[in-house]
Amino acid sequence: MQKIFAANWKMHKTRAEAGQCSASLANALGAGTTASGALVLVFAPFTCIDVVAGAFAEVPFLACGGQDCYPAAEGAFTGEISPTMLADVGATWVLTGHSERRHVLGEDDALVARKTTFALEQGLNVMLCIGETLEERENGQLCDVLERQLTSVFDAMPDILRGNALAGRFAVAYEPVWAIGTGKVAGQAEVLDAHATVRTLLQKLVGATAVDLPILYGGSVKPTNAAGLMSLDNVDGLLVGGASLDAQSFLQIIGA
Ligand code: 13P
Repeated sequence: MQKIFAANWKMHKTRAEAGQCSASLANALGAGTTASGALVLVFAPFTCIDVVAGAFAEVPFLACGGQDCYPAAEGAFTGEISPTMLADVGATWVLTGHSERRHVLGEDDALVARKTTFALEQGLNVMLCIGETLEERENGQLCDVLERQLTSVFDAMPDILRGNALAGRFAVAYEPVWAIGTGKVAGQAEVLDAHATVRTLLQKLVGATAVDLPILYGGSVKPTNAAGLMSLDNVDGLLVGGASLDAQSFLQIIGA
């Protein structure tokens, strides 16, 4: 399966900073030495998507995405953005269900499910983020949380989007909430166990085509731990926050 290295810039970077960083990535990766065969994504702030997409235009395996979207084509939803608007400025991907959307902005599973299916229906590729809080892990609820977060999305998904239709258009990012921005990367045994659980749940939900759906790990990924994480079964890529803000650091992660 094609590996995916994804940067989530969160609420960082002006357009000028985004232009510099994405040009550095396009120059280095376009030269073809680092990312052999991988897909590299940058989830940029809405205001920078056109800049990043423009910088990536000549390199086929680089793409830009939005960090969120609203599940309606248009309407009276002040402050929100539609999948069509994201596509209009050059995004081909969108994140849904990021931990900060769930836990800082209060999004529930039902809203994440609507966002995910609507964005897919509107032609965007989707990276769905899931993961447990520390309290949920300590209470032994890891499997229940992952099952609830995944099932709510697939229950809402029309048949036409399932199976082969998802290939190349849908990825899951497992990001334990307690490992995001904390410097505490999940241990290898924890990552192996969680990713195997996600794979089994996907098999239950979509059948045989689950083997083709990439599962990324996210949470305090750094150049120093990237290779170890990528060596684990069912880890098909990395979703990187803080360490993706600097082009050289993100390139080191991709190269690892
Ligand atoms: P950090 O890499 O900064 O821990 O963030 C992870 C993340 O939330 C990526 O979506």
